[in-house]
Amino acid sequence: MPTFVAMKWTFSSSHRADTVTAEVRTSAQDFSSDSISHAIIARAARGVKTWYQHNQGAVDAFGRVLDPKDSAQEMAHDARKAGVELAGLLTKNKWSQVSLDAGAHTFEVAEGLALAAYRYTRLLGKKAKDAWTLAEIHVVGLTDAESKRLTTLMAAVTEARDLINTPVLDLTAEDLAARAEELGQEYGFKVTVLNQAKIESLKMGGLLGVNKGSVDPATFSILEYSPSNAVNSAPYVLVGKGVVYDTGGLSLKPSNSMDTMKCDMSGAAAVIGTLCAVAGQGLPIHVIGLIPATDNRPGGNAITPGDVITISDGTTVEVLNTDAEGRLILADALHYAKKYKPQLVIDLATLTGAAARAIGPNATVAMGNAGREVWEQLQTSAANTHERLVEFPFWDEYNDLLKSEIADLKNIGGAEAGAITAGKFLEHFTDYPYVHLDIAGPAFLDSPWGYYGKGGTGVGVRLLTDFLTHAAS
Ligand code: BES
Ligand code: ZN
Ligand code: ZN
Repeated sequence: MPTFVAMKWTFSSSHRADTVTAEVRTSAQDFSSDSISHAIIARAARGVKTWYQHNQGAVDAFGRVLDPKDSAQEMAHDARKAGVELAGLLTKNKWSQVSLDAGAHTFEVAEGLALAAYRYTRLLGKKAKDAWTLAEIHVVGLTDAESKRLTTLMAAVTEARDLINTPVLDLTAEDLAARAEELGQEYGFKVTVLNQAKIESLKMGGLLGVNKGSVDPATFSILEYSPSNAVNSAPYVLVGKGVVYDTGGLSLKPSNSMDTMKCDMSGAAAVIGTLCAVAGQGLPIHVIGLIPATDNRPGGNAITPGDVITISDGTTVEVLNTDAEGRLILADALHYAKKYKPQLVIDLATLTGAAARAIGPNATVAMGNAGREVWEQLQTSAANTHERLVEFPFWDEYNDLLKSEIADLKNIGGAEAGAITAGKFLEHFTDYPYVHLDIAGPAFLDSPWGYYGKGGTGVGVRLLTDFLTHAAS
């Protein structure tokens, strides 16, 4: 396993007179320097509201007005977008430090700035030294608690993104589990890794079946954060798809759909990142993360289209397409989750191309049976974080598409409603309130979108951290 050195920012609450400064105000009159105020008012009169750059001699200064919005959530989104634009300006000028003062919106502007400034540089070697990175973000006006929360949250998202961006050569299932253990040490949660022998003894036929075409062993990681002051007795369980690379197996993917498939453990990365954020902040909530992990390859012993495998709960599954592997490994994990008698289970998975085709990178496809109250809280968290959710139907009629002649289920539905039949397949292995999040669209970007550049986004970390923060209060 490589040494992971995540890009980390400490959002220290200190003004630095010697760095580039960036100020955000909701009124053009309110900037600290009159010359900036006047220039911004003049630009606003011409309809220009982007960042204004002012050279004050010693250091460069930026100013930006944020227009009022109808809701705090839209305001927060605009503030983050201002941070994203600021990252662009700092990049262009190769400035590696900034002192930021955005009044009541400092948290969100800094958040947008950090999310957009993220780079995956580990493999660049010497080039990394020359490449621009934003090293220091100084913020003015955050409380110590806010600085700590922002520092932990951004570190957690960064850990998730680094895992996603790491190629499979450096991140086998065992490496992923080992990294989860390291992060558990660092952020304060317990990690137990079940090895191949243990997975065999538990008869996890989904995980073992997918792993048969691989030369690397599978792992099943259990992450647990159980503080003594937890407000909940029944835990929240998060399950993350950990396919460290998806070739499709014998139902091989064409190269142009395969080349980004190191991202197929984005669900696992989101679960690990969320545990980092929750434990790192010491939230009073009992949370468990389950990560079944393997690569999906067409090796000599690979399962074939037509094989029948048996999941750990005894369900037999006719595998008609080995590229529908995520649901096979998740089935074992969802069955395993039953033993915790959880109050809610949420899985995150880059599960179907159908989800990505339906709504693109703009949002996560969500479905489930956990009831309106959970759904509404999730939607509030989605709006708070701009990690948007679109609810798909979850009607039992879709189960008809999964009937097999020779087994209890088949692993593909048909040409239609592919994201939903995948979700219904998973629901078969649950006996608790359940939400399925198909993050195939937003998990990994081919071109910049929202707060993110190309590559892994860590989608799910900010959403679930917000959700669990509410659940803990
Ligand atoms: N990992 C893929 C889904 C995926 C596609 C993730 C695009 C991210 C971006 C998944 O394992 C898969 O291949 N699903 C198949 C299912 C089909 C065979 C029923 C798909 O969506 O084509
Ligand atoms: Zn697949
Ligand atoms: Zn997959």
